[in-house]
Amino acid sequence: MRVALAADHGGAALKAELLTLLGGDGHELVDLGGDGSDPGDDYPDYARIIGSFIRDGRADRGILICGSGVGAAVAASKMPGIRASVCHDSYSAHQGVEHDDLNVLCLGARVVGSELAAELCRTFLAARFSGAPRHLRRVGKIGQIEAEAAEAARSGDRGGAAG
Ligand code: RB5
Repeated sequence: MRVALAADHGGAALKAELLTLLGGDGHELVDLGGDGSDPGDDYPDYARIIGSFIRDGRADRGILICGSGVGAAVAASKMPGIRASVCHDSYSAHQGVEHDDLNVLCLGARVVGSELAAELCRTFLAARFSGAPRHLRRVGKIGQIEAEAAEAARSGDRGGAAG
C-alpha cells in the first residue's frame, strides 16, 4: 500500500519516528513533510497536501499528524472524498476503515507515544472497508453531503444566513 505521511510542527518528530518504525512493514511510505523547523507550518496546509495525494491516487491512505490530531482531522475532512479521523484506540483505527472507509488516520503527537502510534497505524493500514450494503449506504450519504455543499457554494447559498 502507498501511504503518505505529513505533519505540522507539532507532529513532525512523531512522523520521523513512524517513518522508522513502519519502514520495514512492506508499505511504500511517502513523506510529504514538514520537518518541524517552522512553527508557522499549519496543519491545514498538510491536510491539503495529503488530501490531494489521496484524491489523485498518488497515495492509498494517509497518516496526518499534528499536536492533538484534531485540527488535522477537521481540515482534511473538508476535502471531498477524504474521510479523516483521530483514532487513538485500536478499535476505532480498524472499525473506522471497515465501516466508514476512513482513508486518513490523524494522530496527536502530544497525546500518544511513538509505539502506540505505530500500532495504531498498523491496525489502520491492515483494515479494509467491508463493503456491506449498510456501510455503503452511509458512506454514500457522506458523499451526498459533500455534493450538496458543493452545489450550495456554486449557487451562492450560505446555508440559510438571512439578509
Ligand atoms: C499546533 O501548535 C497545534 O495547534 C496543532 O498541531 C494541532 O494540535 C491542532 O489541532
